[in-house]
Amino acid sequence: MSSLFTPLQLREVTIDNRIFLAPMCQYQCTGLDGVPTDWHLVHYGARAAGGFGLVIAEATGVSPEGRITPWCTGLWNEQQVGAWRRIVDFGHSQGAKLAVQLQHAGRKASVYREFEGKAGSIPVEEGGWETIGPSAVPFPGLATPREATAADIAKVVADFAAAAVRADEAGFDAIELHAAHGYLLFQFLSPLSNHRTDSYGGELAGRARLLLEVTDAVRAVWPAGKPLLVRISATEWTDGGFTVEDATTVAGWLAEHGVDLIDVSSGGNVIVKIPSGPGYQVPLAAAVKRAGLPVSAVGQITEPAQAQAILDAGDADVISLARVALREPSWPLRAAAELDASSRARYPDSYLRGRWPEVEAVR
Ligand SMILES: Cc1cc2nc3c(=O)[nH]c(=O)nc-3n(C[C@H](O)[C@H](O)[C@H](O)COP(=O)(O)O)c2cc1C
Repeated sequence: MSSLFTPLQLREVTIDNRIFLAPMCQYQCTGLDGVPTDWHLVHYGARAAGGFGLVIAEATGVSPEGRITPWCTGLWNEQQVGAWRRIVDFGHSQGAKLAVQLQHAGRKASVYREFEGKAGSIPVEEGGWETIGPSAVPFPGLATPREATAADIAKVVADFAAAAVRADEAGFDAIELHAAHGYLLFQFLSPLSNHRTDSYGGELAGRARLLLEVTDAVRAVWPAGKPLLVRISATEWTDGGFTVEDATTVAGWLAEHGVDLIDVSSGGNVIVKIPSGPGYQVPLAAAVKRAGLPVSAVGQITEPAQAQAILDAGDADVISLARVALREPSWPLRAAAELDASSRARYPDSYLRGRWPEVEAVR
């Protein structure tokens, strides 16, 4: 049996293979209301039908001001819940499990979408909004955030918990907290963006306090049978930043607070040249795994044999795919053929005649 096609049990949820669709912003909420559209149904639906074990829906704002852009999805009202439920129900009908990545973008919120032809912060008079951060320190090229007050922090925690309740109503099987890529929860973790002198700053325990409070608030309302994942940037690739040792320590704390898997990414809080290449974040996943939780590896993993080798080496428990899955929505079906695991491929009935290898003449 191919390790990539071995089921993964997280609490009461059985994911039928180790291939996750990594969260990817689509910027397709054309109503600017955070309500997912037909685009999202087709995009996530195709990948559920394409055999991904867990489809993780994109960074989804826990509040309007928590979105990266006005075109991002949200989970702060019932209309959004209804639209997500349609997508989740379809994904379930294809045998996939679905997660949503809950997000507050902090100082990186209120920006143009990357294919808009404009970069930087959207001014308030053009539909943007004032941003918050741990400190009044801007991300290079973006507006300076307001330093979050105690009331702002309490609202962030409450918004994550309310979004988790709605994620359950929508039928999601798992939640992933976005504590990576320089968004709010990571901004608090990093000494480069968090200069606070109160209990949410200072040493690592202070900088991790917001993430742990959010984790506790979400775990308290999220069903005990459903898993909670956290995506973390395990290094900033620069001196003085958050390190892989910090990430491993935080992963240990998250385990004690009821988290079930760490999705290990990197970077995003400062502008640096990242030494990328095939599987470049796998050593980070392997390091964080030492904290004791299952981990996902992501980043330039594109070939089935490469993915399987990472699992077989014990460096990760799961492989997450992003860009390759944009061009190949049925990557898991190709992987099953290449890894000789065809019996585990989850073909929709209507696609069975497209199975690898093609054996019959077309009539
Ligand atoms: C179009 C696009 C949108 C993305 N949006 C998100 C996101 O919403 N949340 C997130 O954590 N990462 C996001 N990422 C990062 C991916 O999840 C992934 O970590 C990264 O692309 C590296 O994996 P890859 O080499 O397989 O593409 C995005 C990447 C792309 C290409």
